[in-house]
Amino acid sequence: MCGIVAYIGKRQAYPILIKGLQRLEYRGYDSAGVALLNGAMHVYKKKGKVQELINFAKTQDCEGTLGMGHTRWATHGKPDDINAHPHTSGDGRLTLIHNGIIENYATLKTALMRLGHTFTSQTDTEVLVHLIEELQRREHLPIEEAVRVALTKVVGAYAIVVMDKTEPNKLVAARKASPLVLGIGQDEFFFASDASPIVEYTKKVVYLEDEQIAVAHRNGAYELRNIFKNQIEEPFVQQLNLTIEALEKGGYDSFMLKEIHEQPKTIGDCMRGRLNAEEGWIKLGGLEEYEQRIGNAQRFIIAACGTSWHAGLVAEYLFEELARIPVEVEYASELRYRNPIITDKDVVIAISQSGETADTLAALELAKSQGALIYGIVNVVGSSIARLTHAGSYIHAGPEIGVASTKAFTGQVTLLTMMALSLGYKRGKISKTQYHKLLTEMENLPSKMEQVLKVNEQVKYIASEIKDAPNALYLGRGYNFPVALEGALKLKEISYIHAEGYPAAEMKHGPIALIDENMPVVVICNNKSAYEKIVSNIQEVKARKGIVIAVVTEGDTIIKELADYIIEIPDTEEPFAPLLSVIPLQLLSYHIAVMRNCNVDQPRNLAKSVTVE
Ligand code: AGP
Ligand code: GLU
Repeated sequence: MCGIVAYIGKRQAYPILIKGLQRLEYRGYDSAGVALLNGAMHVYKKKGKVQELINFAKTQDCEGTLGMGHTRWATHGKPDDINAHPHTSGDGRLTLIHNGIIENYATLKTALMRLGHTFTSQTDTEVLVHLIEELQRREHLPIEEAVRVALTKVVGAYAIVVMDKTEPNKLVAARKASPLVLGIGQDEFFFASDASPIVEYTKKVVYLEDEQIAVAHRNGAYELRNIFKNQIEEPFVQQLNLTIEALEKGGYDSFMLKEIHEQPKTIGDCMRGRLNAEEGWIKLGGLEEYEQRIGNAQRFIIAACGTSWHAGLVAEYLFEELARIPVEVEYASELRYRNPIITDKDVVIAISQSGETADTLAALELAKSQGALIYGIVNVVGSSIARLTHAGSYIHAGPEIGVASTKAFTGQVTLLTMMALSLGYKRGKISKTQYHKLLTEMENLPSKMEQVLKVNEQVKYIASEIKDAPNALYLGRGYNFPVALEGALKLKEISYIHAEGYPAAEMKHGPIALIDENMPVVVICNNKSAYEKIVSNIQEVKARKGIVIAVVTEGDTIIKELADYIIEIPDTEEPFAPLLSVIPLQLLSYHIAVMRNCNVDQPRNLAKSVTVE
C-alpha cells in the first residue's frame, strides 16, 4: 500500500525515482507523483499508473540530484491529480510524501486555516506540510527539527520524506507504524517503503525504527533520532539478502504465475536445514528458544488477515490434531477491538507475508501488552511484525510481488506444519513411527508440487469453460475447508467473480439455494477422511445441475464418474493435503483472470501490504 522512494546524491534522481516507483507498483496504488529539486522545485503528479506520470514528465524539466517519488493508495480524498503526492507548502518551499493516516488531521487543519493556511487537496497528508511550514516560519528551525517538532503534534501512522528548497543538501524522513528503509550508498542515500527500489544501488540498509527521524546529507553523513525523546540513536546497518532477479518476472507473463511455479522451490527453502527425515528431527530456531513456554501454552491464538488468516485456519487443524493444543484463529482486525481475554499462558501466533499489515500489528501490540508470548510467521525479513515478536520463523519464500498471495500461503502452511509436527512429537502426541512417516512425506512435497503444476493446461481448459460465470462456490472439508476459502478469495481478488468458500457440509444450510446449471462448484476432495461425505455433497450439487470441478487424488474413480471436470493430484498424507490442493485453485483463478483481461498482478482496489486500518 503506497510506495515511497527518495534520493540524494550525485546521480540524476528522476530515473532512480521512476524505476523505484515501478518496483513499488506491486504494493497497490491509484496515483503517482515525483518532486525534483534543481534550484527550483518541480512537482509532477498524475492519477493512474506510473506510466501516466512518465508520459506527462517527458516534456517537463526532470533535472536534479535530489528528489522524491510516491505512489498513493487513497485514504482521505479521491484519487486524482491534486490529491496525489507530493504535497507542497503554501510558500512553495517544502514538498512532502506520506504513507499512512494522520488521524488528528481535522483538528490540525482547522487550527492552521485559522492561521491563514490555504489547502488545495482533500488529503490528511497536506496538514503535515503546512504544519512544518508554520513551525519554520515561527521558529526558524532547520528542516529536520521543524519536521521532528511537527511530528510530535501528530497522531496516526506515517512514513514521510520531506525536502526543503532552501536546504538542497538534506533529505529528511521519518516513520511511525509505516515501513521505511534507508539505503546507504557511496555519498548517496535512498529512502524507500521496502528495499526493492534500493537493492540495485546498494545492499547496505537501515530499517528505520518506529518514532525515528532520519536526516541524510549530500556529503555522505546521516543521523537517526528519536522523534519524541530528541536523542540520537545508533543505526543498525544490515546487508540486504535480495537479488534483482527475485524482483523480476524471469520469463513469466506475470509475477503471480512465476510465484505459483516457484512453490516447489520455496517450500523446499522453507524446510531446508530445519527438517531431516532420515535423522528424524525438525529444528526451528524461534521455537527452540521458547520451547517450554510454547509447549506448555494453554492455547494458541492465531492472528492474521486474508490469505494469511486462511493459513491460520489450516494451522488450527494441524495444531489440534498433531500437537493437541487448543487453537483460536482470529481476524486481527476483530481481535484488536474486541477486548479479548489474553493471558501470559497464551501464545499468539502472527501470520503475515509482508510483516506490515496494520491490523495484525495492532492486534499483536495488544496481545503483547496482556503478557502473551508473540510468535511470528513472516516472509519479509526485518519487517515491523518480525521485529515486534518475541520469537518467530521466516518462511523464506523470497519477495512476493503479485498482490494475490500464493507462495507465501504455502510457505506459511509449510512452516506451521513443521511447528505442529515438532510440538506434537515433543509433547508425546504423535508416535516415533508416525513422526518419521510424516517427516519423510514432507520431504517429498516439493517434488509432488512439481507434479501438481503439470495440471496447468488442463486447468486452463476448465478456466475457459467457466470464465464467464458471475459466481462460483468452493467447497472442502477438514484440512481442505480453508483451501476452499483461499480458492474463493483468489478468484474474487483477481478475476472479480463473486465466489464463496464453505465447509462442504454447510452447503445444505443455505448456499445450496444458489446452485443451478450456471453455478460452477469447485470441490476439493483430496483428503481421505470424510471422503464418502464429500461424495454425497457432490451428488447434492449434481442433483441441482451445478457444474462440479473436483480436485481429487490420482486414480480416484468414484468422483470421476460424478464430476464434470476433475483435476488429479498426487496422493499425500492428510495433514499435507492443502499444500497440494491449493495449487490448482491458484492456477484456475490465474487463467480465468487472464481470459477476462484482468490485471493479474495489480488487481483493482487492492494493495499488497495493507498498512492502514
Ligand atoms: C491475499 O491474496 C491478499 N492480497 C490479502 O488477503 C493478504 O493475504 C492480507 O492482506 C494479509 O497480508 P499479510 O500476509 O502481508 O499480512
Ligand atoms: N492518507 C494519505 C492520502 O490519502 C496517504 C495514503 C497512502 O498511504 O498512500 O493521501
